[in-house]
Amino acid sequence: MSKLFTPVHLAVPEGPGLTLRNRTVLAPMCQYSVTTLDGVPHAWHLAHLGARAAGGFGLVFTEAAAITAQGRISDQDAGIWNDAQGRAWSPIVDFIHSQGAAAGIQLAHAGGKASTYAWLPQQVAEHKIGSISATDGGWETLGPAETEIFGLTSPWSMTLEQIAASVQDWADAALRADAAGFDVAQIHAAHGYLVHQFLSPLTNTRTDAYGGSFENRTRYAREVITAVRAAWPAHKPLAIRFSGDDWVEGGWRIADTVRFAAEAFELGVSAFDLSSAGIGKYHGPSGPGFQVPLAAAVKQAVPDAFVTAVGMINDPSQAEQVLVTGSADGVSIGRAALKNPNWPAVAASELGASRDDIPFAAQYWRAHW
Ligand SMILES: Cc1cc2nc3c(=O)[nH]c(=O)nc-3n(C[C@H](O)[C@H](O)[C@H](O)COP(=O)(O)O)c2cc1C
Repeated sequence: MSKLFTPVHLAVPEGPGLTLRNRTVLAPMCQYSVTTLDGVPHAWHLAHLGARAAGGFGLVFTEAAAITAQGRISDQDAGIWNDAQGRAWSPIVDFIHSQGAAAGIQLAHAGGKASTYAWLPQQVAEHKIGSISATDGGWETLGPAETEIFGLTSPWSMTLEQIAASVQDWADAALRADAAGFDVAQIHAAHGYLVHQFLSPLTNTRTDAYGGSFENRTRYAREVITAVRAAWPAHKPLAIRFSGDDWVEGGWRIADTVRFAAEAFELGVSAFDLSSAGIGKYHGPSGPGFQVPLAAAVKQAVPDAFVTAVGMINDPSQAEQVLVTGSADGVSIGRAALKNPNWPAVAASELGASRDDIPFAAQYWRAHW
């Protein structure tokens, strides 16, 4: 039996925890599909996430679901900032469950990287890239400081009142996610979005209690984790996605992530996904499994957590290797799963699983697995 298709247990503060049928995780991926601009997920999200649950993933993450309208990356993002959105996620979660997968939601606030055009072929063809213009409905954004990222319109520096309100927004979103039936809530602390903007000295130039020292720069993230953990039921695992490294001298580095992961674990985070970058020009490595060392470093720091690696893990034997070397406990699959929603079922078959152990949907049993 391959390690990739061995069930895994995620610890929780109270209760038995959550067991995933295997260690394949669908990475959160924006769909930019809410053309009604109200953040309400719909048939596309059901079809997209449902197909990947049927395709065998152990844990299926939604796209970055905005915790406030202002925190959307694009105006076509799905959200979880109101009850109508929460109710719309519920049947999607039910379908994911019906296929034997667990359902995770990525809670997200884009901060100073909000209000950008949807990253879709038509927008790109029309050169609608970067900040949405005021005439196209762009909105003001918030961040730890007025630092511009990637030439986007600068955010407003958050007041202490706005920081406190924002922490509450994360908790409120977690309550809605629980009501919708999600099993795992993941705090998006990666890719240059709001939480990462507070963590990184590249974007956080505050001089108050939320900026400067490591302790101050991690304060917002600690408050978010604490508030979400209090709102999110103790019997459900709380996850976080980090940019493990900015890949920039003087930025947020892997040593910072390792140190903060240990603190996050103490605060009740039991699942960690290790991506990287998102602020400034990319200076990092590339190629298959380029971010695996980040996961391996965090795995050492929090051995009792469920740590996943992500980034160009396309090949089943490569994924298996990540696990058998102890670098991570699971793998998150992104683009390879856009190409093939049945990535896990195919991988299980390629790794030699017996027909009974291949996680295909019953309706597809006559395929040659
Ligand atoms: C279409 C698309 C949308 C994405 N949206 C998100 C997102 O909402 N949240 C996030 O954390 N990462 C997002 N990512 C990054 C992926 O989760 C993943 O980390 C990245 O694609 C690298 O993994 P891969 O090589 O397996 O694709 C997105 C990637 C793609 C291709």
